[in-house]
This record gives sequence, structure tokens and C-alpha cells, in this order.
Amino acid sequence: MSNTNYVPTSKIGKWFNDRLPLLTLSAHLQEYPTPKNLNYWWTFGGILTFCLITQIITGVILAMHYVAHADLAFESVEHIMRNVNYGWLIRYVHANGASMFFLAVYIHIFRALYYGSYKSPREVIWIIGMIIYFLMMMTAFMGYVLPWGQMSFWGATVITNLFSAIPFFGESITNWLWGGFAVDNPTLTRFFSLHYLLPFLILGLVILHIWALHVPGNNNPIGIDVKKPSKDTVPFHPYIVIKDLFALLIFLIIFAFFVFYSPNILGHADNYIEANPLVTPAHIVPEWYLLPFYAILRSIPDKLFGVIAMFASIFVLVILPWLDTSKVKSAIFRPLYKQFYWFLIIDVIVLGYMGAMPAEGVYLLIARVATAYYFMHFLVILPYLGIKEKTLPIPLSITEPVLGGSSNPSRVKNKTELHNL
Ligand code: HEM
Repeated sequence: MSNTNYVPTSKIGKWFNDRLPLLTLSAHLQEYPTPKNLNYWWTFGGILTFCLITQIITGVILAMHYVAHADLAFESVEHIMRNVNYGWLIRYVHANGASMFFLAVYIHIFRALYYGSYKSPREVIWIIGMIIYFLMMMTAFMGYVLPWGQMSFWGATVITNLFSAIPFFGESITNWLWGGFAVDNPTLTRFFSLHYLLPFLILGLVILHIWALHVPGNNNPIGIDVKKPSKDTVPFHPYIVIKDLFALLIFLIIFAFFVFYSPNILGHADNYIEANPLVTPAHIVPEWYLLPFYAILRSIPDKLFGVIAMFASIFVLVILPWLDTSKVKSAIFRPLYKQFYWFLIIDVIVLGYMGAMPAEGVYLLIARVATAYYFMHFLVILPYLGIKEKTLPIPLSITEPVLGGSSNPSRVKNKTELHNL
């Protein structure tokens, strides 16, 4: 962590900072030494922060007009779309914002997998991240129930029913979750309450996530520890700030494309039909970002074991820092891991596709193979690779691979200096 010995210049600033060192914190955030080789995959943390704030602001505005009652919810959403000033915009930003949030979080997670950012000393950053991810899924699931369309109702019915697979207490737990004997008004009101609450819990966890990050500092594409501050780092402001802002701009263009040109493409048409407990939709499917887990759930013939497999697929990620036995962080220096990394990406995409298909015939078979491979990746391949893989030589510093091998004498001198860092 950079040691900020910041002293405010103004008298009032000093008075305030002595009592609550917010100015010291701000100086720390500006100076924070960041590895100079961070690529654009490192801009997604900032993008995620933007997404969370956008979801909170648009959500709070939606809640001013939304009515959390089974008889009025669907109509109140239509009222927002048609009568509230810019209500359509706020709703589409919120609904598509959830998808963009998940897109960004998947990139953020897979970046960490590629560059080994979850490894020592960053395990706590990773675990806090996994808790955030789990809460994000809960929040999104409950949010999808609120418009009280057909997919809201039946999605909630399918997922809450999973708890009934728990031996002995299953039915009581499900009834307790519902607040009755079926998904109904009490379920809707409690989901609304929790959907409003959880994002603030996520916000608190994001602060811890970034705090935990600032202890060891950022990992970087070559995955070596850098001295801070040194020739290998740049101050966060303005270097990283401007790069993050540029990436955010590109991200916003894609976001705007969905909001203004295809606002319903990521949703399901059935959710424009009001919830009807007497009519079951032909296919009940969750939103795209939950599909791989849905595929794992359905690939196991037994309901209880399906639920266990689904939770286990998240849990293996939580313990990943201890499953991956390789000391080398970045996939750049791990030729075999790099290949298995891409197999995993393909596997997750296949799982997602199977999650959207009916759980029968060849789809089910593929989903079963993909589920088995998912667990094999984490439980067999990673521990084994760490022991057996022959890794490539790792540079001593970030600057070395760039300056090394040059015939320019001044650069060679730099290289020697760098070795001494
Ligand atoms: C609301 C959601 C999240 C926010 C706002 C957030 C924010 C951030 C920020 C600002 C950074 C530093 C910049 C960067 O490396 O991109 C970061 C780093 C990191 N995040 Fe997240 N994050 C979130 C979710 C997650 C999740 C779900 C995981 C994984 C389970 C995760 C794992 C990590 C790791 C391992 C790092 C260290 C990266 C490195 O230095 O290489 N984060 N996060």
C-alpha cells in the first residue's frame, strides 16, 4: 500500500482531515501505484462500479412508481413505460443494465482466471468477489420476479421449489420462503424488499473488495510482484483514470445500443404477459447470465443432487485459490493451462446454450458431459497441471521484456538497474 503522508494545504482542510482523513484517502487513491502494463481487461473493475451505481440510481427511481402487489405490479410497470416521464428509459437502462453488469462481471472473473489474480496474496479479494457475484445472482433473480409477468412467476416457482428437495424440512422451508403455499403476493413483497436491500450490501462489499485490493496492489498481465512505487508502476491518476474512462465510453456505446435499438432482445417475450398461475409457459428459462447454472441443475437426474451440483459449481470457484496448485500466475507462462482455459470458456458457453434448450435427448447428454468437464477442470485438471506443467521463464520485472535485448546502451543500463529493483 502506498504510504500517503498527505497534509492538506488549507486550514479548514487540515482541521477536517485531522478528524476524518478523507482527504488522505483521496490522495492515496490518486497516487496508488499501478503496474504500468495493465491491459484493457483491467478496466472492468471500474466499469462494474459504474454498473452498480447505475442500477442503484435507476432502481430507486423505478421504486418511486412501481407497486409491489400481485394485483398491481404488472400494470405499474406498464404505467412506468407509458406515463412516467422517461420511465421507459429508466426501465430499459435498469433491465439491460443488469445484463451489462453480468457481461462485465463475467469478463472480470475470466480475466482473473487467465492472469491468476485469485492466487496468493489476493485470495480475500477473490472470495469477497465471489460473495458479490452470488449476491448479484440473488438480486437479479428477485428483480426479474418484480414485473410479475409469466416468466417472473414461473421462474420464481421453479427456483423456490428447488428447496423442497431438501430432506425432511424441504416443504416447510419452501412455504417459509413463499410466505404461503404458493408463489403469491407475500413472495412478491419480500422479493421487492430484498431486491432493494441487497445492492447496498453489494456496495459495502465492493468497498471491502477494493480495500483488500489496495493491500497487495494490482496483479498484472505477467503476474509478477512489482515493487511499489517503482519504474514498473504509474500513479492511478491520471494514467489509469483516463484509460478506465475511455473503456467506459466504449462500454456505454454497446450499452446504449441495447437500450435504444434492441431493449427487449435479452429478455423473454412471455414476460409481457401478466403472471397466470393456471397457465404454465412451454419453456421456463432464466435470464441468459444464469443459464450455465440452470444447465448444471437440470443435467443431474435427481432434484436434490441437481441443487447440490448447482451450488457446488459456485463453491469450486470460491476455493479456486487452493485448487490451483501452480505458483505461476499468468497463463502467458503456462502453455497447457492456457489451452484448458479456452476449453473451460467453450464449456461454459455450451452449458449456457444447453440451459436454454429443453432438457431432453441430445441436449441433455451434452449438458451432462459439459457439467462433468466443468468439475473436472477445477477438481482434476487444475491441481494436476500445477504439479506437472512445465512453465515458461518469467521476466524479472515488467520493463525487462520490453527493454531487454536492445542494443541501445542506455537501455541496457536500465535493464541492469531493473534487475536491482
Ligand atoms: C460489483 C461487482 C464488482 C466490482 C464493482 C468490482 C470492482 C473491482 C475493481 C475496481 C478492481 C480493481 C480493477 C480491476 O482489476 O479491474 C477489482 C479487482 C479484482 N476483482 Fe473485482 N469487482 C466486482 C466483482 C468481482 C467478482 C465477482 C470477482 C470474482 C469472483 C472479482 C475478483 C477480482 C479480483 C481477483 C481482482 C484483483 C485483480 C487484479 O489485480 O488482477 N471481482 N474489482
